[in-house]
Amino acid sequence: MTEKQGELITIADPRSLASEAFRTLRTNLQFTSVDRPLRTILVTSASPEEGKSTTLANLAVTMAQAEKRVIMVDCDLRRPVLHKLFGLSREIGLVTMMVEDEALANPPLQETGVKGLWLLASGPLPPRPPDLLGSQRMARVIESLLARADLLLFDAPPVLAVTDASILASRVDGVLLVASAGHTKRDDLRNAKAQLDKVSAPIIGAVLNNAELNRRMGYYYGESEEG
Ligand SMILES: Nc1ncnc2c1ncn2[C@@H]1O[C@H](COP(=O)(O)OP(=O)(O)O)[C@@H](O)[C@H]1O
Ligand SMILES: [Mg+2]
Repeated sequence: MTEKQGELITIADPRSLASEAFRTLRTNLQFTSVDRPLRTILVTSASPEEGKSTTLANLAVTMAQAEKRVIMVDCDLRRPVLHKLFGLSREIGLVTMMVEDEALANPPLQETGVKGLWLLASGPLPPRPPDLLGSQRMARVIESLLARADLLLFDAPPVLAVTDASILASRVDGVLLVASAGHTKRDDLRNAKAQLDKVSAPIIGAVLNNAELNRRMGYYYGESEEG
């Protein structure tokens, strides 16, 4: 395990409350769509810095721990970070598959150190991400990746900032909307959902990140039991 990987709670401390919460999320997702398993999931949020990428990475680790073959796809072609969370390179990835036929046939996946979990990094950053994400070629990229994994998790920029996430939302089986406790504004979350509804995005749930309050309550109840 590299030092970088140690920063992900599901790797560093699988027995923590937070890791347990990710296992619950995994179970809930498995029950969300029993008849037709979710194979492509987009993780996004209203605004920057709400924990999209961190949530995606932890969910990916948790899914891989359940013997699933999982590929994280860094579709945040504005501020890609997934490679950093695993100490990997950003240089070759999704955009490479867009422009090189050889890469389309043989995706430049990077091993993460977690069994069953790979990263397709962003690759070189293009001038207009929506053009790529909305292209026919993107459908072929997804097809090629699905031949190699049970589940694809797509990271994306915030919904309210740019159209990228909305474009991707119409190509996936499910969209997870992340909100950050004490940070995400109610109106922003509502607007983000409205924006996704407009493109008929299959929203399958919301994840509350940074839920400190719940922890404090847990602590409080724990104390009162002792006293
Ligand atoms: N639950 C959390 N507890 C502490 N720090 C967090 C948590 N979730 C995210 N962060 C930190 O917040 C910053 C933004 O997270 P990130 O996942 O990159 O957000 P986004 O993808 O929405 O921009 C990162 O430095 C990350 O380490
Ligand atoms: Mg991010």
